[in-house]
Amino acid sequence: MKNNNTPSKGSQNNNNGIVAAAADAATELKELFIDSLKDIYWAENALVTALPKMAQNATSPLLASAIKEHLEVTKNQVVRLETIFALLGEKPEGKKCEAMAGLLKEGDGILEETVPGPVRDAGIIAASQKIEHYEIATYGTLCAFAKALGENDAVQLLTQTLAEEKEADMILSDAACSSINLKAAKNTMDSVVPE
Ligand SMILES: [Fe+2]
Ligand SMILES: [Fe+2]
Repeated sequence: MKNNNTPSKGSQNNNNGIVAAAADAATELKELFIDSLKDIYWAENALVTALPKMAQNATSPLLASAIKEHLEVTKNQVVRLETIFALLGEKPEGKKCEAMAGLLKEGDGILEETVPGPVRDAGIIAASQKIEHYEIATYGTLCAFAKALGENDAVQLLTQTLAEEKEADMILSDAACSSINLKAAKNTMDSVVPE
């Protein structure tokens, strides 16, 4: 049966479900690699803007300082990406990363949906870890692409960033599991148990 819905641009299906490529679609892995670098360049820059707000909303000094520290790491990751663009003979250029935009929007939503204190802290960690996991997946792929393309200097730089994202994720897990989640759980119990 014929579908009457008009498919959106860039996702047109042939009869067999194969998506038609856009006019500027990548034909080589190197193009996909550069395109993915533009995507994460946009995402890292968006994080440089968003992380101060997350730190400002954290109640736990441990969490606030972990986020502030990761902000400095993130600024350096932006510079590292610029170095990679230069190595590839490309201009550093961002391309909106819809996934990161969505994760940041979700982070904003968590702030609105929680009162300041341990529960909001737990929400900030949840949102931050989703971001770190997205970055870990992205840099893992970028490292693999760079290796396949023989871009060894880029592999080295991307591996450094990947290690930093993994470390940030571990620090957030430690903060959640060592104290913040328990405080948040106690906070919840205190609010439902009348004194
Ligand atoms: Fe990052
Ligand atoms: Fe990160």
